[in-house]
Amino acid sequence: MAVEARVCDEDIFCPEAVRTAREVDDRLRELAPAVRLSRERITLLGRYEHVSAALLDWRSFSSRSRPWHDPDSVRPEILLVDDPPRHTQVRGVVSNALSPRALARMAEHFRADADALLREVAARSGEVIDAVAQITQAFVYKVLPDLLGLPQAGREHLYAFGNMVWATLGPPNELFEEAMRDTGPVLEWVDQCCNRENLDPEGLGMQMFRAADAGEITEPEAKLLVQVLLSAAADTTVMTMATALRAFSRFPGEYRLLRAEPALLRNAFEESLRWDSPSRMAGRITTRDVEVEGHLIPKGERCGLMFAAANRDPRKWADPDRFDVRRDTRGHVGWGYGLHACVGRVLALLEADALLGACIRHIERFEPAGEPVPWMSAIGHGPARLPVRIVAA
Ligand code: HEM
Repeated sequence: MAVEARVCDEDIFCPEAVRTAREVDDRLRELAPAVRLSRERITLLGRYEHVSAALLDWRSFSSRSRPWHDPDSVRPEILLVDDPPRHTQVRGVVSNALSPRALARMAEHFRADADALLREVAARSGEVIDAVAQITQAFVYKVLPDLLGLPQAGREHLYAFGNMVWATLGPPNELFEEAMRDTGPVLEWVDQCCNRENLDPEGLGMQMFRAADAGEITEPEAKLLVQVLLSAAADTTVMTMATALRAFSRFPGEYRLLRAEPALLRNAFEESLRWDSPSRMAGRITTRDVEVEGHLIPKGERCGLMFAAANRDPRKWADPDRFDVRRDTRGHVGWGYGLHACVGRVLALLEADALLGACIRHIERFEPAGEPVPWMSAIGHGPARLPVRIVAA
């Protein structure tokens, strides 16, 4: 007979737990196959086998609701909160716009931007820099709004908007309050800049409105999708590339290997995503009683499927804390899995090819120069600041 999930009374989303999220998530994964957080009244799955199976089983683990779901939040209510058939139709619009063919012409622009940026960084050889502000964020916060076709004015709100959307994925605690402190100007910007008349006709954002013209989605849905792309594409990519740079500094032998064999670059990026995933978990709700290794998750239970913990599950990954650019990374869940698996993966990979490719050409070494400052977000994870000494090639 199935037993109830193991109960945990800890607050795993308080600032202290967020600072040590890696250890907290690994500990929860090892506690039991299903762990119920008594404070939040949600059940977490942290083992690779169960997380990947649940992500594939959208009929039992629906996206229609999720922990702390508030339909009136600043979060664009589309796609991630849909099941088929609505999900299938909307996703088709986005995946057409983000297909490898549609994005191929961007690769050259990304390379030029990345090369110019890394030349400037390399000119500061010997100095300590913040690799997030000066490399990964500097790059993504330029190429992403350019690609979407957003106006120049107001782009400084990009970080605050992303941070707010991430906050809505977690509980309404002090980190949430912090993220929501000054919503006014940020939301006004998001509301304005994603309107049809403010978008560059050649940009990716306008393609959502063209799909509305073709009757594939409605006009309000088109605007929501531009906002989804803006929020989903920014910090995930900033954090994963920052994590890659962190790994390069902590595992200098792997970076040397990568410089000697640049063909390993894509796998190194995938390994960064496995090694320290920027999303701690995804929310779902059960539509029936589900049994996970003899533990019962009742129908209607809100669940957290823990990407980061599953990507370091020793049952699946040998020596999971080791960053290994040659590792077989296939099957990691850093992009999610199944129906909702990241639709922007091709874009993120193109950005990583450009930026990390420019790093290996221009920078001989990234040396650790102090502890990274963690991103204080309950669900988002990664370095908000990453001090490194750079040595030019
Ligand atoms: C390294 C960078 C990225 C990472 C690690 C990442 C991660 C993820 C993950 C884990 C999911 C699944 C969430 C779930 O199942 O609940 C997801 C979905 C999604 N991602 Fe990404 N993402 C990245 C970049 C991007 C980019 C560049 C875009 C857009 C251009 C994007 C747009 C989306 C969208 C729209 C979804 C929802 C898909 C759906 O519901 O069908 N992501 N991403």
